[in-house]
Amino acid sequence: SIRRSIQTKPRPSVSPLGFAFDIDGVLMAGPDPLPTAKRALQILEGDNPFNMKIPYVLLTNGGGKTEAARAEKLSARLGIKLHPEQIIQAHTILKDMTRKYADSPVLVLGGRNDELRQVAESYGFRKVFTTPDVLLWNPSVWPFQTINPSEMLSRPSVDFSKTRIGAVLVFHDPRNWGRDVQIILDVIQSGGVIGNPYVDHTSHPVEIVFCNPDLLWKSDFPRPRIGQGAFKESFQAVYKAITGSTSPYPFVQFGKPTAPTYKYAEKVLVQLVKNRDGSNAPLPGIYMIGDNPESDIAGANAAGWSSVLVHTGVFDPGSGAPPAHTPTYQARDVEAAVQWALNRTL
Ligand code: G3P
Ligand code: MG
Repeated sequence: SIRRSIQTKPRPSVSPLGFAFDIDGVLMAGPDPLPTAKRALQILEGDNPFNMKIPYVLLTNGGGKTEAARAEKLSARLGIKLHPEQIIQAHTILKDMTRKYADSPVLVLGGRNDELRQVAESYGFRKVFTTPDVLLWNPSVWPFQTINPSEMLSRPSVDFSKTRIGAVLVFHDPRNWGRDVQIILDVIQSGGVIGNPYVDHTSHPVEIVFCNPDLLWKSDFPRPRIGQGAFKESFQAVYKAITGSTSPYPFVQFGKPTAPTYKYAEKVLVQLVKNRDGSNAPLPGIYMIGDNPESDIAGANAAGWSSVLVHTGVFDPGSGAPPAHTPTYQARDVEAAVQWALNRTL
């Protein structure tokens, strides 16, 4: 259907549109590509009547690996060469935060054991610690788990009783919520030095940054799964119960639908076009293709992008309820979404 409607139009010199693809529930179902994902990306790679490469990024609230490792893994699964600069994960935006914490110890949460240390150090953070590091330093911090040192990728020699943590950065979804809630509470109640006497923390000396607000996300299980947003809710509930605070501990939130994440993605897309076509012009039209109205669609609408909600993820059209945020268009899957956007634009 793209072919018919485009053949009568002159070929534009540069692509008049760009795309941002959500990953989970749009391109992937857990470890496997969704049925039309490969075809959708092939169309943008040039398999369209203009034989034009159309710029796109993958914009996910997921993470846990370096962008290079994620690009390599997704390229193999999708059969399309993806470049690291096309991959924007929940924590990619933290590359812009390294100056603020270049010399201050930070506690990085999420993922398995200490695999995120490499990601944080690849961004430029220099004093990166993880919650398994804390358990190796003193197992009695969380008596319900024993860390096997051989499972750690590296073992910094650190005495947390002499280390003031400046910020807790929740890069990715924590795997052991009890342990991680306990250690965040230790850090903020003791002014950054785990195990020290509690201090008046109402001045909130320790900054907490969450990179993904998703309460729900779609993997390969038939029903949505709870995500990092649910971890944040559980931390705040325990924080209020233990401290008696009537308000949550202040935090910085990145990830879809927050504006900084969409501004970051737009900057990356424009840079991609500049690197390839030499043009610095802003992209006239950006299409976000997502499965979660609360994140993908809400953020795109707020950013002034066009948004397409697909029926292969969190949103269930069979539920009868309208989406929480109204998309520009609804499509059965990612290929139909791409075809609609190209027909509408080219
Ligand atoms: O942790 C992954 C999940 O929260 C979201 O992934 O790709 O649907 O933004 P995505
Ligand atoms: Mg999704």
